[in-house]
Amino acid sequence: MDEEELIGLMKKRWTARKFESKDVDEEDLEKILEAGRWSPSGGNKQPWELIVIRDEETKHKIAELYAEGMGMSDPPERYTSPPVLIAVCVDKRVIDSYPDMMPAEFVVYASIGSMVQNMSLAAASLDLALSWGTQPEGIKEEVKELLEVPDYIEVPDILQLGYPDQERYSSDRRRIDEFVHRDKIDEEKLRDI
Ligand SMILES: Cc1cc2nc3c(=O)[nH]c(=O)nc-3n(C[C@H](O)[C@H](O)[C@H](O)COP(=O)(O)O)c2cc1C
Repeated sequence: MDEEELIGLMKKRWTARKFESKDVDEEDLEKILEAGRWSPSGGNKQPWELIVIRDEETKHKIAELYAEGMGMSDPPERYTSPPVLIAVCVDKRVIDSYPDMMPAEFVVYASIGSMVQNMSLAAASLDLALSWGTQPEGIKEEVKELLEVPDYIEVPDILQLGYPDQERYSSDRRRIDEFVHRDKIDEEKLRDI
């Protein structure tokens, strides 16, 4: 793969929110997990655990909990339509294992981000979409209970994996010159947020 193909793949990846019922082959899933396995992580501590969820009842319970946490009237399709959900688990004991002078939480969650991005790119290369689904704070404990996750593990996100069943919407990006600063921060460029 040359750099144009690689950047093309990065542009191809997108966040679908509605999925076909078409199954994801176990072989393709393995390829995506393998891409995640090779992600960089701070100190190579690999702070992730993943729960692959194919069970329909569990998916529905996750969708119901999400609706509850977000104040929605119905369980969202984004958790019921994809054939596979992947709960991203963070082992908090890894956060505690870094030396005190390190910003351990940043390092751990950045490592998680790199792993999800690796898996998302692998999914895009297979014409699949792997979408983030950040879990609302209010349902954290119920999600952990449902997935039988111990106290020292957090489940900040439940990814959705499947074939998109919607047109890709446009998602703009800032221009390079809007966010790249040379030698020092140019405050003039900073956005009002
Ligand atoms: C850490 C992280 C958390 C995200 N959480 C959600 C989410 O909870 N719900 C959602 O619909 N999209 C979520 N997204 C997807 C973003 O909204 C999406 O990446 C962004 O709008 C750009 O669109 P694109 O991915 O299609 O290019 C998340 C993305 C990241 C990186």
